[in-house]
Amino acid sequence: MTEYFRGKFFIDGEFKDRYLEVENGKIKNIGVERGNGTVRTLEGFILPAGVDIHVHFRDPGEERKEDFYSGSKSAIYGGTSTVADMPNNIKPINSQEVFNEKLKTITGRSFTDFALYQLPAGYEIDGAIGQKVFMGKSTGGIISDLTKIINNEKIKVFHAENQSCLDKYKIDDKDLKAHDNSRPLECELEAVEIISRLSLNNVLIAHATSRTLAEISKSFGFRVEVTPHHLLLNRDMKLGSLGKVNPPLRKNIIQEDLMNYLSKELIDVVSSDHAPHTLEEKEVFDSAPSGMPGVETRLPLILMLFKRGIINLNYAVKLLSTNPAEIIGIPKGRIAPGYDADLVIVDFEEEPIKSENLHYKCRWTAFEGFNGIFPNGLILRGEEIMIEREIVEQPRGEFIDGKRGRSKNN
Ligand code: DOR
Ligand code: ZN
Repeated sequence: MTEYFRGKFFIDGEFKDRYLEVENGKIKNIGVERGNGTVRTLEGFILPAGVDIHVHFRDPGEERKEDFYSGSKSAIYGGTSTVADMPNNIKPINSQEVFNEKLKTITGRSFTDFALYQLPAGYEIDGAIGQKVFMGKSTGGIISDLTKIINNEKIKVFHAENQSCLDKYKIDDKDLKAHDNSRPLECELEAVEIISRLSLNNVLIAHATSRTLAEISKSFGFRVEVTPHHLLLNRDMKLGSLGKVNPPLRKNIIQEDLMNYLSKELIDVVSSDHAPHTLEEKEVFDSAPSGMPGVETRLPLILMLFKRGIINLNYAVKLLSTNPAEIIGIPKGRIAPGYDADLVIVDFEEEPIKSENLHYKCRWTAFEGFNGIFPNGLILRGEEIMIEREIVEQPRGEFIDGKRGRSKNN
């Protein structure tokens, strides 16, 4: 059935009043007139929906922290239609069998479309969107065997902190400053040097904490991801263990310099690294697990950077939607014919971020008091999932099979 959406769409860098012709969930045509079919008028400004290619939804295994139902619901409230989930589950995703089990558990319980990463396993797991490589131990204690990385065309996302370097710096982990000192920038730089010698295609350096790391990664031809927390938070803020993440929050000047580098449009993607832990687990700094939630605040915070004049809207959309979709090879993240009709509706009104208004399970945020631009509506493959800030659908997110990911026509 042909449907039309009418509204102000962000197309080729500007808002245009158009009719969007949607067939089978895909944008078929964009015109100034409607054809035969139903028309739904959308109020507000319409952007491609967010694509978050770095989340830890903990499902299966740690459903007390998060599961796919709650994590993906929270993503929708934050303007994100699609996520790619990391493989550091309690039972690590390092074989076809475990991957299939995970997929089976999740199927039918996601509000967003979703892709799943594998760990290096010596072979390509059927269905995986790419590989996640841990060069150093973080939450979950995984350390990847680099000889098991498959050099295929798919993305290889690196947690770039080198373990032998981390081992040198073990100190009493009592506050954010100590945590930063225990996992210094040097360990990230060392990891990136090692990756450069692996001669791999399609590398993404995850959660870069500094301009230096980003620049060196770029010089090796890697793509670079940053998180809202490394852009907006630093170790000198009074966050306690809520700010404990790996790689760590750095000093104020390093954070500002990273933001400065972003404003020059040199970063490829902003991902949330949504890594929920319960408040009880975060009580004692030393034993608190690293990671913070963020899937619902990523797009609202980055749109604020546009509103404050730090980046332009075109670049914000690239960071949030177009580039991440391109990096994992899926036809999303753009309002253009052939792409999925995944849309987010915003009014650019800012409001304070409050933990009680967020929808993921652990219900705390390190961005309390920051302002965000939260979406009013979200459309997934032509279906209105959220209207006036309420989800109106049951989970209808589909699995994005890594094998099929690279065509615009599937
Ligand atoms: O802070 C982090 N938390 N860094 C990681 O690498 C993993 C993540 C988690 O899964 O909690
Ligand atoms: Zn992560």
